[in-house]
Amino acid sequence: MRDELVKEFRNRFHKDPERIFFCPGRVNLIGEHIDYNGGRVMPCAISPGVWLAVSKNINKTLSFHCLNFPESAELHLQTSYSRSGAEWFNYPLGVFDHFAESEMPVSGMDMLFYGNLPIGAGLSSSASIEVLTAFAISEMFGMNISKIEIALLSKKVENEFIGVNCGIMDQFAVALGKKDKAILLNCDSLDYEYLPLYLGEYTLVIINSNKPRKLTESKYNERFTECGRALKALKKELPAQHLCDISMNDFSAHRHLINDPVLEKRALHVISENSRVEEAVDALRQGDLFKFGKVLYASHESLKELYEVSGKELDTIVDFCKTFRRCIGARMTGAGFGGCVIALVNKDRLDEFKPELISNYENIIGYKPEVFVSEIGEGVKEL
Ligand code: GLA
Repeated sequence: MRDELVKEFRNRFHKDPERIFFCPGRVNLIGEHIDYNGGRVMPCAISPGVWLAVSKNINKTLSFHCLNFPESAELHLQTSYSRSGAEWFNYPLGVFDHFAESEMPVSGMDMLFYGNLPIGAGLSSSASIEVLTAFAISEMFGMNISKIEIALLSKKVENEFIGVNCGIMDQFAVALGKKDKAILLNCDSLDYEYLPLYLGEYTLVIINSNKPRKLTESKYNERFTECGRALKALKKELPAQHLCDISMNDFSAHRHLINDPVLEKRALHVISENSRVEEAVDALRQGDLFKFGKVLYASHESLKELYEVSGKELDTIVDFCKTFRRCIGARMTGAGFGGCVIALVNKDRLDEFKPELISNYENIIGYKPEVFVSEIGEGVKEL
């Protein structure tokens, strides 16, 4: 990839890039829709991601180019920037806006991006490009911003510049991923530890439903608001800052306070998912992959029935996984409403799993999913 990127950089900017950076995507193993509810999540960085070839320039211009999209942008350095429609370069632009508003000096830059992450497929392409841009700026201008700070400022860009009320999980995972490790992250305190991912004879398969995602942002923000309303009702009697501070027992005794069946379902998902993360951690620590797999299936069920962020495409994949004897667990990963499923499949049965799943899905849905195996990799870095 590096050679192609350098070649294309020379074509477009008539010079060599000074530096090249890479940021991965992520999958979340368990703990879905609980990062913005103060719970614990277990994501890991994957091998596909986004590259950035970059050089400073002296003409005070920010040039955004990307091999994946025909649109490019050239802007004069300013003291603030604003979002332009739904263009891809809003993500890096939002990061520049953050640096401009924080009065951190940045010169003109020529940038060429390329991603091999499916875009909008729930593998954090947006967090990846934000963290990549922030890391590159920090390195190019000797700012030495820590990776945690990079994750936090990138989340802020997503919340304020892009307008999605996401939690910290994605930005954190793509900034701080570690090879062959899952990150167990407390999204309230930001305490984290790396858990070894020994999958033995199983492998982590990622299945992109290829469902065109629509309304994801608005539905996502709707869930965010619903959780806030459920929490507000429960707070009348429970001293909680986040939904995830509430135990299942306390919830059972106070759920009537919510007085709205939909909000009650949302809260039940959040609180039960938070305890499933505990179960998953125990299972991994005991090396009990069957138990881990069962927790993944239970998580999917809850996201489907209670949080209602799955859909026919993701359910079709998970239903197939349940019938495939050597698949021991599967669930949708990320925000949902389309996107990807992760599945734990016996390595020796991958050759059967893949074609059977593809044909089953195509029969029901009418187009093919994409199935791939990914390594668990490192977070953002310079190449
Ligand atoms: C998206 C958001 C994350 C998280 C997940 C759901 O990926 O960006 O912050 O909320 O959805 O777990």
